[in-house]
Order: sequence, then C-alpha cells, then structure tokens
Amino acid sequence: MSLLRKKSIASMLLEKQKAGSGGGMKKELGVFDLAMLGIGCIVGTGIFVLTGVAAAQHAGPGLILSFILAGVVCAFCALCYAEFASMVPVSGSAYTYSYATFGELIAWILGWDLILEYGFAASMVASGWSGYFQGLIAGIGVKLPTALSSAFDPANGTYVDVPAILIVLVLTFIVSRGSKESSRLNSIMVIVKIAVILLFIVVGAFYVKPGNWTPFMPYGFSGVVTGAATAFLSYIGFDAVATAAEEVKNPQKDLPRGILWSLVVCSLLYVLVTAVLTGIVPYAELNVKNPVAFALQYINQNWVAGFISLGAIVGITTVLFVLLFGQTRLLYAIGRDGLLPKPLARLNSKTGVPTNSTWATGVVVAIFAGLIPLRKLADLVSIGTLFAFISVSLGIIILRKARPDLERSFKVPLVPWIPALAVLTCGYLLISLPAVTWIAFLIWMAIGLIVYFAYGYKHSELSK
Ligand code: ALA
Repeated sequence: MSLLRKKSIASMLLEKQKAGSGGGMKKELGVFDLAMLGIGCIVGTGIFVLTGVAAAQHAGPGLILSFILAGVVCAFCALCYAEFASMVPVSGSAYTYSYATFGELIAWILGWDLILEYGFAASMVASGWSGYFQGLIAGIGVKLPTALSSAFDPANGTYVDVPAILIVLVLTFIVSRGSKESSRLNSIMVIVKIAVILLFIVVGAFYVKPGNWTPFMPYGFSGVVTGAATAFLSYIGFDAVATAAEEVKNPQKDLPRGILWSLVVCSLLYVLVTAVLTGIVPYAELNVKNPVAFALQYINQNWVAGFISLGAIVGITTVLFVLLFGQTRLLYAIGRDGLLPKPLARLNSKTGVPTNSTWATGVVVAIFAGLIPLRKLADLVSIGTLFAFISVSLGIIILRKARPDLERSFKVPLVPWIPALAVLTCGYLLISLPAVTWIAFLIWMAIGLIVYFAYGYKHSELSK
C-alpha cells in the first residue's frame, strides 16, 4: 500500500510558503495576461521549424488540417490541466497533481515521464534555434564548419550542433542566476513573435500559388494524422498557464478563457503560416531547418527573411527558457520529496535557485541538443507529452468520482465527455508514432521503475 502513499495538498502549500515562492501570491492576472503568458511559452520551434519537415514528409499542404486537429486535442487537455491546477495550485505540474491525488508510484511515473518531455523538448527547441541562427549568420556571409553545424550524422558529415549547445548553456547560466521570466520582457517577446509571423503571412500571401496546394493530402489522411502528432508539439507550453492558477483574479472564468484564447490565437497563426508556407513553396522542398525564412528567400525577399529569422530566434529563446526553467523546478520538486537524490533540491543561499538541478538540466539538455537530430527528439517529446496528457485527463474523471470533496476553483464542463475525448484523441495520436519511439519510451519508463524501486521508494520523505 505504501506505493500509494500520498502527499497532502495542505502540506504542499506549506512547503511552498516556506520556500518563499509566494504562498500568498497576488491575484492580479486576467485573461489578457494569461493569453500573453501562454503565447510566450507556446510559439517556437514547432511553427518555425517542424512545419517544414512535417509538410515535406508527412502531411503535405494537409498540414493545415493537422494543426486544427492538434489544436482541438490540446484544447480538451488544456481544460483538464486547468481543473487540476485549480485543485492543487503548486508548481510541478502533473507530477505534483498526482502525488496529492493518486499516490507516490503514479506520481513518480509521471514525474519521470515529464523529465523526458521537458528535457527532450528543450533539446529540440535548442536545435531549432540553431537552424535559424545559422540561417541568419549565413545572411552576413558567416558559415560554420559542416561538422559542427548539426547533430551526429556522419553520413552527412555532421557531428555536433555547437550553436545548440551554446544557447542551452547560456540560458542555463541565466536561470542559475535566479532570473525569473519577467512578464514585461515576456510581453515584448510575444509582440516581436506575433509581429514577425504576421509579416510573413502578409508578405507571403502575395506570392501564394494555389496550384501548390494540390494535391492537398499527398500522403492521405493518415499522413495528416501523423502530421498532427508532430504539430501538437507546437502547442506545448499551455500547461505553464495552468500553473499560474493561484495568481489569477477569477480562476473559474479567467483560467480556461486565458488558456483557450492562447490556443485559439496560436492555432490561427499556425494555420495561416502553414497555408502561406505550402502555398509559396512546393511541399516536397520544405525539408529544411528554417522553413519560414527559407520560403521568403525562395521568393527573393531576403530582407524580410532576415527579419523573420531574428524574430524566430527571439521567440524560440523564450520557449527554451521556459522549458529549462520548468525542468529545473521539476527536478527540484522530485529531489525535495526524496525520490531523486536530495542535492537536486539544495537551494543556493544567495540566489535561492536549485543550482544542482539547474546545471544537471543544462548539461544533459546541451548534450542531447548537440547530438540527436531534431526529428528524433520531436518524436520522443510527443510520446512523453501524450502520455502526460492522457494521465491528466483520466485523472479528472477518476477524481470527480473518488474525491468530490476537493475544492476546485475551475471545473471542466461536460465531465466525463471532454476528458474522455482528450484520452481518445491523444491515444489515437500515440498509436500513430513510429515503433522505434515506442521502444525508446518503454526503455525510459523501465529505467524509471528500476530507479524508483532501487532508490526513491526507500528515500522518499513519506517513508520517514
Ligand atoms: N510549443 C513549443 C514550440 O513550438 C515547444 O517550440
């Protein structure tokens, strides 16, 4: 039964107060702030980079549908995240939610899964950053030696992606100095991001050749679904909005609206970008590292392409920052609970930052970003995320029955239907992922169980 031991929500809130992370946070965020926060954490490598590969290899112009499909799936899941966040308003996302509600073993499985999700997502985003960075410096005539320009792939003469490693280490340094993302900086970055995307749409629209949209689904509807499994990565980040639950003025109304507005704005931008992208460049030629800038070079708008690269770099940097930050806080929370070694939870006395977690994250993410190709990273992020989404959605259905007493400042409408749709649609995307990704995921989870039974089970704070 001790595998099911639970942490009480009250003790979590107490810990939070002690850690000084704002037990009595001001309730001042409204729908607009939440939507800005969401867009800041969401728009990054997904739209600026993965659209190219996904259109070329999976969906063709049908990627437009993939984005709509993925957006709807995320909307169902986002509502479930919002209910959890309003019930267990402490950081650590699905890991903390399940520690309070389903007990230690499930919490550990989810925590271990989230380490995979955040870690690989950060590596993937860094690798996307590198693609745009190299495109930009190529514009002023600087070119890195091929061996150092991309992940390990000796057949193509590339060994390590140096810019990806460097950006991860620089941002890790910034996180380790105790900088939180400031909401003003975030707003500026969001405006820059939206501006360059609109610039692309407006300029690109004049060069669209509708002929490029036929055939619309060159790989059939199954290609569109595979495209959606990739596309939904582009929406990751909305759970950051859910974790702001406590700081929202009127959570019952504002939280879901904030989350849904960020998803609506992002989907709209994604659909328009994809339509313009596949309208300018024949989809088969889009298999490049910086498709959005590439499309503008394709129509000889090199100046605009330069601006877009710069904006993409700024935008992708914020997403990377949020992911690295999230990963360090997750390791901190797991270490504090004793399921991973305690030093991960040690706070630097000056900065109040979990320095060990921060550097552990930075170094591992840098290594993966430097060596593993973006495409493979993306599949691992997908599987990890879908697993977390399914667990959170199932959790909502179960807890409504098992713990109707828990106070929820936001409730998902139409339970069990909406969470059930989330589970079914995520499950559908899961089975469309390649077998090798499944194998890698199962190996990762098996290692997780070994770590738990060899270490976490004995060292857990709850065992004391
Ligand atoms: N949603 C994030 C991105 O697209 C992961 O970069």
